[in-house]
Amino acid sequence: MENDRTEWDKIDAMWCTDEGNGMCIRLAAQKDIPEITAIEQAEFAVPWSEESIRHDIMENPAGRWLVLADADGSVVAYAALWLVIDEGHVLNVAVRGRDQGKGYGKLIMSALIDLARGEGMRLMTLEVRRSNLRAQGLYHRCGFLDVGYRKRYYENNKEDALIMYMDLV
Ligand SMILES: CC(C)(COP(=O)(O)OP(=O)(O)OC[C@H]1O[C@@H](n2cnc3c(N)ncnc32)[C@H](O)[C@@H]1OP(=O)(O)O)[C@@H](O)C(=O)NCCC(=O)NCCS
Repeated sequence: MENDRTEWDKIDAMWCTDEGNGMCIRLAAQKDIPEITAIEQAEFAVPWSEESIRHDIMENPAGRWLVLADADGSVVAYAALWLVIDEGHVLNVAVRGRDQGKGYGKLIMSALIDLARGEGMRLMTLEVRRSNLRAQGLYHRCGFLDVGYRKRYYENNKEDALIMYMDLV
């Protein structure tokens, strides 16, 4: 019954469609973890482990992971958020290598922003490598603003992090 649906179901329903190419944005499930891990390992110099991803998806009450799945259910992209009081902190966003540059990053980030708003968050924050101009372009496109730098934030190469911010209210 419509009234029995949770906020999550409504978000799912909003983004899942059989129209067009049958792609769907939904909350990540246990079966998605190996594919998310494979994308994570391919796209990041210091990837999250499969165990950390599993824990955040399955057990962290503050974690929210979305996947964009193709018509076969394969993961094309994912985006993750922590809900911290009134702040949605973006952990990670990635698109499968061969599907980058097709607008999927923008699509899943828009869904993540909707999700954060639906959960009552008042702002969103994130950190991104100073050299990652592509991701910064995506975040700017989605409405994030530059706040400042955390110097030598990333352990592996001592790169600065750009802190970005967006008001949701
Ligand atoms: C960053 C990433 C998520 C973007 O996803 P995507 O699907 O490739 O991006 P989209 O096609 O949706 O493009 C969204 C916006 O990103 C920006 N963008 C995309 N490619 C870009 C490039 N090569 N250079 C600069 N900006 C770029 C543009 O602003 C673009 O919007 P526009 O097309 O309206 O101008 C994706 O490239 C990725 O997975 N990269 C590796 C992982 C990563 O760096 N994640 C971010 C960690 S903080």
